[in-house]
Amino acid sequence: RMTATESDHIVATTEGRVRTVVINRPEKKNAITLAMYGRMVDELEHAAEDPAIRVVVITGVEGVFTAGNDLADFQEPSHDETAPAVFPFLAALPLFPKPLLAGVNGPAVGIGTTMLLHCDMVYASSEAVFSVPFARLGLTPEAGSSLLLPRVAGLQRATELLMLGEPFDAQVAREAGLVNEVVAPEKRSPRVASRAEELAALPPAAVRQTKALIRHDLIDQLKEVLEREGAVFRERLVSPEAAEAFAAFFEKRAADFSRFD
Ligand code: COA
Repeated sequence: RMTATESDHIVATTEGRVRTVVINRPEKKNAITLAMYGRMVDELEHAAEDPAIRVVVITGVEGVFTAGNDLADFQEPSHDETAPAVFPFLAALPLFPKPLLAGVNGPAVGIGTTMLLHCDMVYASSEAVFSVPFARLGLTPEAGSSLLLPRVAGLQRATELLMLGEPFDAQVAREAGLVNEVVAPEKRSPRVASRAEELAALPPAAVRQTKALIRHDLIDQLKEVLEREGAVFRERLVSPEAAEAFAAFFEKRAADFSRFD
């Protein structure tokens, strides 16, 4: 059950025909909890059905997009038994039928970067920093990134990013094809808003059908990819390697994988 505070961690507002969904948990660097995934799924479902909404924008607050999945949630034993709420979010994201824009204003870790592969246009502040540190956390690629990142960034570059998990800046993200435009920090929000308004003024059915055509083959493949990634990821979550990585993060020390084979 969500408490009043938890429900404030996702804040959505409508301006004209644009719905903006703000990830708002700055005290934990916008790390996403199960309740927050649930709220985002609700937002996507509502926006998909509501004819008054033509475009959705996802963004962060206070210099952070999101530090990715809440690592404390990852340690919950329930992940072992039941499908965590991240999976409904991952299923809903690629199927969202209207333009989905992202404005990235700081760290975008893990799903913070992989969700961008499902966005139709991505605008990054020059202060944005991306990373997909799954392997170094004892985990594996999720959100269809094993399919989409090589498609977007090329095989070698995607492999380097997904294996080493090093942070990369907005310029590198743009060169890799993950980002449409890099703008000064104070220009990010107005730039995303003006792009969203431009899209909202276009013939809506033509825009939706354009998206559907562009994504058609990927959506077909993603179903299988998400299942395969999810099966491996669930095993990895309860692995001793991941336990060491999560413990190291919360103990603010370097992880030591020397004892594993
Ligand atoms: N899950 C849970 N808590 C998180 C979190 C996460 N993914 N990311 C950050 N936090 C918490 C920290 O534990 C800390 O909490 P505390 O104040 O109670 O100690 C707080 O948010 C601030 O984080 P901190 O690391 O001190 O901020 P920073 O500015 O030095 O670094 C990041 C920001 C995003 C680079 C860093 O927090 C980070 O690497 N986070 C983990 C990202 C990650 O591995 N995500 C999972 C990907 S699959």
